[in-house]
Amino acid sequence: MKSQKEIKKIGVFTSGGDAPGMNAAIRAVVRTAIQYNLEVIGIKNGYRGLYEKNFVNLNQRSVANIIQRGGTFLKSGRFPEFKTPDVRTTVAQNIKDQGINAVVCIGGDGSLTGVQALWNEHQIPFAGIPGTIDNDIFGTDNTIGFDTAINTALEAIDRIRDTAASHDRLFIVEVMGHSSGFIASSVGLAGGAEAIFIPENPFNIEKVVHKIQESQKKGKTSSILVAAEGQKPGRAYDLAENIRKHSGLSAKVCILGHIQRGGSPTATDRILASRMGAAAVESLLKGNANKYIGIIGSQLQVVDTPVVLNQKKYVDQQIITLADVLSL
Ligand code: F6P
Repeated sequence: MKSQKEIKKIGVFTSGGDAPGMNAAIRAVVRTAIQYNLEVIGIKNGYRGLYEKNFVNLNQRSVANIIQRGGTFLKSGRFPEFKTPDVRTTVAQNIKDQGINAVVCIGGDGSLTGVQALWNEHQIPFAGIPGTIDNDIFGTDNTIGFDTAINTALEAIDRIRDTAASHDRLFIVEVMGHSSGFIASSVGLAGGAEAIFIPENPFNIEKVVHKIQESQKKGKTSSILVAAEGQKPGRAYDLAENIRKHSGLSAKVCILGHIQRGGSPTATDRILASRMGAAAVESLLKGNANKYIGIIGSQLQVVDTPVVLNQKKYVDQQIITLADVLSL
């Protein structure tokens, strides 16, 4: 563990799918670090940037006027080569050669797994910040970007509801979430969806068809179903075909896709990102080496990364049930 006096220069990078609020988090990391007289190195393009030594010095002005911007000015990405031990050794050496004493990683569970490996194998201290629109990281109620993504998706669903009602149509709206249904369950309830399909739950097409037909008998002339993309973006078309086969009902499909990843972060995400960014720097200065910053309720938590990385965070099934009841 490095003590506060040993931390003089930190690196910060974003990794994995970008998320609205990442810029706010970077801003908080940089300005908090400078408050403690630390030097800050920005690492471009995530782990690839660590490997290719794509470094940039950051100061207060570097992060001016970005709190309101979606995306990440440090850019992000996926770097599967990082799974190779020799690549990790090169990354660790690049960090040490640059004089970086610790890093702040802003990303999803895959990104946090990467810095944990760097600590295990090369004792590079890190502080993780959960940044992903999926909100699928154990140990934190919310991840940066989730609130903005669900509001973006909700606005789209409200628009779709207008045209569905005008044409008495059934729509399936596909949202992001390749292995989790947090976005789908939240916007399903908020958007008044008649059914919510998530990767965690086997879907029962007969039950859904029965509910649509019953609601039509009661005079409901349009319906909105929300589906998480799961492992197959575009699976909403398979769902539509399934419904048609079982009932003859025709469903229109709208895939929201990457619009859920962009846009100006909400106040909630800006506040969360700012708090987590500052806490990440302070965690390192306290000598923590492999923690990430979570939030439970409104309280920030410094969480043991290895303890939680192997645990799955589950969607609250009561949300699904409530959405079902309230959409009768
Ligand atoms: O992890 C966030 C996420 O947006 C997922 O919801 C989605 O399935 C994935 O990233 C898409 O990744 P990419 O932008 O690399 O296609």
